Parts: sequence; C-alpha cells; structure tokens
Amino acid sequence: MSIGGDGMHREDFNILNTGIIYFDNGATTLKPKILGEAISDYYNNYSSNAHRGDYALSIKASGKYEETRYLVKDLINAKNVSEIAFTSGATDSINKIVFGYFANVLNEGDEVLLTKSEHASNLLPWFELADRLKLKIKYIELDDNHEVLIENVRKTVTNKTKVISIAHVSNVVGDVRPIKEIIEFAHKNDVLVLVDGAQSVPHMKVDVQDLDIDFLTFSAHKMCGPTGVGVLYGKEELLNDIKPIIFGGGMNADFSTDGTRIYKTMPDRLEAGTPNIAGVIGFGYIIKYLMDIGFDNIHKYELYLKDYLVSRLKEIKEITIYNSSSQSGIVTINYDGIFPQDLSIYLDKYNICTRAGNHCAKILKDEIHIKNTCRISLYFYNSKEEIDKLILALKNPNIKKEII
Ligand code: ALA
Repeated sequence: MSIGGDGMHREDFNILNTGIIYFDNGATTLKPKILGEAISDYYNNYSSNAHRGDYALSIKASGKYEETRYLVKDLINAKNVSEIAFTSGATDSINKIVFGYFANVLNEGDEVLLTKSEHASNLLPWFELADRLKLKIKYIELDDNHEVLIENVRKTVTNKTKVISIAHVSNVVGDVRPIKEIIEFAHKNDVLVLVDGAQSVPHMKVDVQDLDIDFLTFSAHKMCGPTGVGVLYGKEELLNDIKPIIFGGGMNADFSTDGTRIYKTMPDRLEAGTPNIAGVIGFGYIIKYLMDIGFDNIHKYELYLKDYLVSRLKEIKEITIYNSSSQSGIVTINYDGIFPQDLSIYLDKYNICTRAGNHCAKILKDEIHIKNTCRISLYFYNSKEEIDKLILALKNPNIKKEII
C-alpha cells in the first residue's frame, strides 16, 4: 500500500460528501453505505425472528445472524464460535463478564488491577463488584507519558491478584498497552486478563490466540458497524463457567412449574431475548468490508496520519499535546486559554467534529492533572487535507475573539 494521505475509501461514506470533517472516531465512526443497505435489506426483505421459526424467512435471518459469528471468529482468530456472544456493546460485554463470571470466582480480599486511564465501563462494574465482595482495587502506575509499562504491571501484581482488566488502547491517551507481555506475566501468576478492545479491534489486528486473551470485549459502532451491537469473547473453558445475568427466552433449554430450569450452553446462554438481528447481520457485512481493506493497512495509515497531525499541531505554540508518543490515531490536546468544550464548539463552525471533556475516563485527571481535553481521533477515511483544515482553523489569529 502506498500512503498518500488522501484517506481510504472515502467514497463509501455519504457524510463525507457534505464537507464534514469527522475526527470523533473514538466515540463512534461513520458508517459506509453498505451498512444501511444490509440493514434495510433485512427489514424490507426477510424481517423475521432468528432461531425461533421453522420457515424460510426465519431460517435465512438465523443463518445470516450466525454467519456474523463466524466472521467475528475469523476477525479475532477465536478457536470456536461458541466463544463469541453478541451483546449490546462493549459496556454490556464487560458487565456480563464481571457479574456473570468474576462475581462467582472472586473472594473477599482478592485484588483487581485496573489503570486510572480506563473508561467508566471498565471501572464502575469493578467498583460495584468490589463493594459486594470486598475486593481490593489497585491501579497500575502510569509512566510520565501516561502509558502502561510492563515493569509497572509486574510490581503491582501480588499473590492476591486474581484479575487484570485493562483497555488494549486507552480512549484518551491512545497508548497501546503491551498486552502480550501483560498476559504472559499474568498467566505465570495465575491471574486472568480481561481486555477492553473497544479502541483496538477497530484499528489493528487483534488475535486472541496469539495474545492468549482470556476475555475480550468490543463494540461494532466504533468500527463502521451499527450501534447496539457488541462482542463478548471468552476462552471456552472460562465461558463454561459463566452464568447469565439476563434471563428469558432463547437462553433456556427447559423449565418447570416448580422453578427447576436448564440453561443452554454458550453462546445462547448469554443471548436472552430477541437480539439486534438487523445490527448483527449488518455487522457481518462490515467485518468483511474491513477485512478486505486489511487491518494492517488501516493501522499503518492511521499511524502515518497521526504523525502528520502531531507534527502540524506542534507548529502552534498555544497547543499542548498530551500523548505525542502513543502508537494509535488518538491525539489529545488543549489550547492555552481556551476551555476544551469552547474549542470543540469553535471547530464545529468549520464543520470539524472533535470530542471535548473527560471522555468517560474520569479518574485520569489524577494522573494528567487536567480534567478536560479536546480529542482528535482518526480513522482510515481521514486525510491530510482535513488535518490541514483543522490546523488552519487553530492558527486563526482571531480564534479567541471568535470564541468570545
Ligand atoms: N467511549 C467513547 C469515547 O471514548 C464514547 O468517546
């Protein structure tokens, strides 16, 4: 692939024809036309329930739904489709793992290792469980660049540590954590690792067997897919012990008047109720689309674009960049004397979408000593020309006057 900086497959995204410059890909990505087409095909041409009908329409819907499970298996190189459950998003997946698995295996005094740059979804479920079971939450120290170093993981693990729950890529600092080394070390110490892949799976090849990941979670909407669809991956031997936390149709094999009940095996056990059939089917089309582009190409292009963005931002003396060294497409900044929300609102006047605030990582402020930032998060369709427009807006000599 030759890297020109023009953005990849821009023609697939209607919104890009409107002049919008979309730099909020950490929050959610744009959707290519094929997603809407696949979803509307289901609703218009074979709308029916999955796994519940003995007629052609329903058999087609079930087949397409299950096809996506095979595509997810290929995407993350799982051993088996039974290791993959569909959820409503990464948050739902983490909650199901914390309360369906860890709630049953952890005991008072056990330690859970997190970092202060985790997203709320990978902190709050653990805080809740810690209160219930009297667990101890510990934070892996971040280095001066707010990154996680394997040495700091090593020195935090004790013989009481039972689980490390960590994002593969932080949604604010954008650092790519040394997941393989963390997991190798954790397993030598009988510690399980939950990897929040919300900001990694969309941007790079994540191979659960190569990395030896115990649990992996991610959301479809952060990788060109629909909202309301997520993935929960777990190693088969662990998922054999996971208990459902949502009960209802589809997840039970039988139940009787006296309350005796038999639940199905994985993955049905975790998919009670009618799932987001249209979304899951649409996600299958998206996985094929992204695999055709190639995750190595996506990752390489994003790093190239990020380097360009950082070098251009450095031309502006009022800008502080919090994570120039990170190896992802996430760049977090502040403009001297401008409140981050005001900066985002100002950039919106130039059709530039960024996210301002704490980005749901509300305890990171303890580390970076800044509560709010403005985040520019890139994806494969972004271009150098869009970055040039951002820089032009930031170099506007009247920027402060326009904000007031
Ligand atoms: N987790 C999303 C973000 O980082 C919403 O913006």
